[in-house]
Amino acid sequence: MAILEVEKLTKTFGGLTANKEISLRAEANKITAVIGPNGAGKTTFFNMITGVYKPTSGSIKLRGELIGGLKPHTVAKKGISRTFQNIRLFGPITVLENVLVGMHTHLKAGIFGTIFHLPGVDREERIAEREAYRLLEYVGLEEHYNDEAASLSYGSQRRLEIARALATKPSVLLLDEPAAGMNPKETA
Ligand SMILES: Nc1ncnc2c1ncn2[C@@H]1O[C@H](COP(=O)(O)OP(=O)(O)OP(=O)(O)O)[C@@H](O)[C@H]1O
Ligand SMILES: [Mg+2]
Repeated sequence: MAILEVEKLTKTFGGLTANKEISLRAEANKITAVIGPNGAGKTTFFNMITGVYKPTSGSIKLRGELIGGLKPHTVAKKGISRTFQNIRLFGPITVLENVLVGMHTHLKAGIFGTIFHLPGVDREERIAEREAYRLLEYVGLEEHYNDEAASLSYGSQRRLEIARALATKPSVLLLDEPAAGMNPKETA
């Protein structure tokens, strides 16, 4: 069964049709590529799947459930994560903190527990930090965990975006031109 199934997805911006009846089936545990020249509509397609844009028509199903038109944070909670063609990190906070932001959908702590440092909250935070560090090791950024995200090289920022996206424990990960602007070494 397809984990992600898109049928006849269409998006118009005024008189411009950016996506016209695009259909796609992505199977679990497989890599599916969406290709097309500049301006073909790839980013628009991803923006509809992740809730950034509301589709003009067509349907999007995640594990059979209709998710078209839901808000981005709801789509993220349901298990779709993404990176951005134009990197969108939280520049002034640390590399580790950027990954922690990605984890927040799984954390239970409320405002009260955070302010009063309740023991359960502190424990949860320590576990989250360890998991975030593990993700940084996975993308090879652990040495930079305490650096400001904005200070990273371009290639490293791209890898941090992937770590942050993985932190939500997605079942579908959308990478919008993950190697754009990278040299061959960084791409590898
Ligand atoms: N918010 C918007 N308002 C109006 N037009 C838009 C908007 N977003 C995208 N478009 C237009 O939709 C078309 C598809 O753009 P899109 O960015 O989805 O293509 P792309 O395949 O991702 O291109 P690239 O390879 O350059 O990233 C373009 O003509 C673009 O100008
Ligand atoms: Mg694009």
